[in-house]
Amino acid sequence: MHLRFPKAWELPESAATPESAYLNRRAILKTLGLGAAALALAPRGLRATTAGFPTRVNADYRDPALKPTSYELITSYNNFYEFGTGKEDPKPNANRGWKTEPWTVELTGLINNPIKIDANDLVTKMGGAEQRVYRFRCVEAWSMVIPWDGFPLSKLIKFADPKPEAKFVTFTTFNDPKSAPGQRTGALDWPYFEGLRMDEAMNDLSFIATGIYGRPIPNQNGAPLRLVVPWKYGFKYGKSIVKIDFVAKEPVNTWKAMQAREYGFYANVNPMVDHPRWSQASERVIGAGGAFGTRQKTLMFNGYEAQVAGLYRGMDLRRNY
Ligand code: MTE
Repeated sequence: MHLRFPKAWELPESAATPESAYLNRRAILKTLGLGAAALALAPRGLRATTAGFPTRVNADYRDPALKPTSYELITSYNNFYEFGTGKEDPKPNANRGWKTEPWTVELTGLINNPIKIDANDLVTKMGGAEQRVYRFRCVEAWSMVIPWDGFPLSKLIKFADPKPEAKFVTFTTFNDPKSAPGQRTGALDWPYFEGLRMDEAMNDLSFIATGIYGRPIPNQNGAPLRLVVPWKYGFKYGKSIVKIDFVAKEPVNTWKAMQAREYGFYANVNPMVDHPRWSQASERVIGAGGAFGTRQKTLMFNGYEAQVAGLYRGMDLRRNY
């Protein structure tokens, strides 16, 4: 017998609403309208990655209980150390001539289909883009809710066709100190680098984002391709990826290399395992309740326990943080 377990965010039949009711009708129309306007106004040759827009809403990932953070906040309160360490630095600094189009990404390593491919062509090969609303939790104990556009990472992995020896997927992000002032400092080891275990990467939640709110992803959020793994802390979400490498051994991600006692490889959101310098039991909700946000309890695996707990069965999550 085939038993189907509903995903936590799946709407019960009775709660199903027409698509237009989601995010409220005006917001969605505005989003689509703005997206189209942005594309139309962008001068030829300077466009962000636009393949796949307008995107289609994936009804499986639109929990009506999640209230998306405003576009303005998502795109102006950022962590992107290549463009400065302040939250307000990336927006101006990543938009002073840094070109994210055209963009080439390389799929390489233990795969049968190594390829260097233009970001737009990749989106087209992946069958276009869809929109999913996910919770986002930073290791610094703040959170947002973000409507991401993009495609499931599992599609890219199937396209790359890994060999059996490939146990991990790594993500190398761009390295361009001329355009990125932070890369002319030793703030981190450049380029920013991340990785996932193969079964984590194949989980349906793992996503490559190419947009936000139905618009091509802005430079400060990691144009044109960035990783999204909603049950993990935000530092796993490598921005502006240039290489996806399939490897046999667990890689050492940038923040673990910086400070292994504070940042691990797994980085699963876990309210019971505190950061050595602060509690992870609750989080500040950015954009809710005034400038400093309201606090809410942090959920195990950021609310995606039903989807991902099985990946870590039998593992000590205090040691594997
Ligand atoms: N990717 C790169 N290349 N450089 C970075 O500094 N910061 C990470 C992650 N990806 C970072 C990165 C951290 S710490 C977080 S919380 C998220 O990006 C922030 O994503 P956002 O600015 O889109 O909210």
